[in-house]
Amino acid sequence: MAPDDISAVAQIERASFATVWPTNAFYNELRTNKLAHYFVGRLGSRVVAYGGIWVILEDSHVTTLAVDPRYRGRRFGEAVLLRLIDEAIERGAAWITLEVRESNAVAQQLYRKYGFTTVTMRTGYYSDDNESALIMWAGSLKSELYRNRLRVLRERFETA
Ligand SMILES: CC(C)(COP(=O)(O)OP(=O)(O)OC[C@H]1O[C@@H](n2cnc3c(N)ncnc32)[C@H](O)[C@@H]1OP(=O)(O)O)[C@@H](O)C(=O)NCCC(=O)NCCS
Repeated sequence: MAPDDISAVAQIERASFATVWPTNAFYNELRTNKLAHYFVGRLGSRVVAYGGIWVILEDSHVTTLAVDPRYRGRRFGEAVLLRLIDEAIERGAAWITLEVRESNAVAQQLYRKYGFTTVTMRTGYYSDDNESALIMWAGSLKSELYRNRLRVLRERFETA
């Protein structure tokens, strides 16, 4: 993700989430947060998906992930998640975590596909409607088991 992508990203964000980040948040993440790594998925020149991750030594945290509603179900979400996991691994992370709404079955399904399991729940985590968050986690990203799982998923993704 580059600063020029942010207006398209913000449009996808507004169409995807009840509560959006403050206007400057993406700029700050790109410009000043050295732990943050953001990516967009493009179809031609159009930004159709985006996601971000923080990598802090052996820990990583998916901060956001969304696909333009018009382009969902076409594997862009999976492509971005794969990129985030690759980034975490390349930077030496062993663990990856994220929060997801309890009702968000589609995202949970995607995360489970990539080896995430629910480790705990935060009751009333989302301030807009008091919905609870599942805290999902995958690891060790360095283990042979996870590497093999990722290899198989990548092969399936690339040949589908
Ligand atoms: C969650 C989201 C990113 C998925 O992106 P997508 O491009 O639509 O999903 P993909 O086409 O890449 O599908 C990948 C996997 O997601 C899951 N998935 C996708 N659509 C699904 C659906 N309608 N029902 C159940 N699972 C689904 C499946 O596991 C799928 O893998 P499979 O095809 O092998 O079963 C997208 O729906 C989105 O932007 N949602 C709104 C924002 C959001 O909830 N972000 C996550 C915040 S934690």
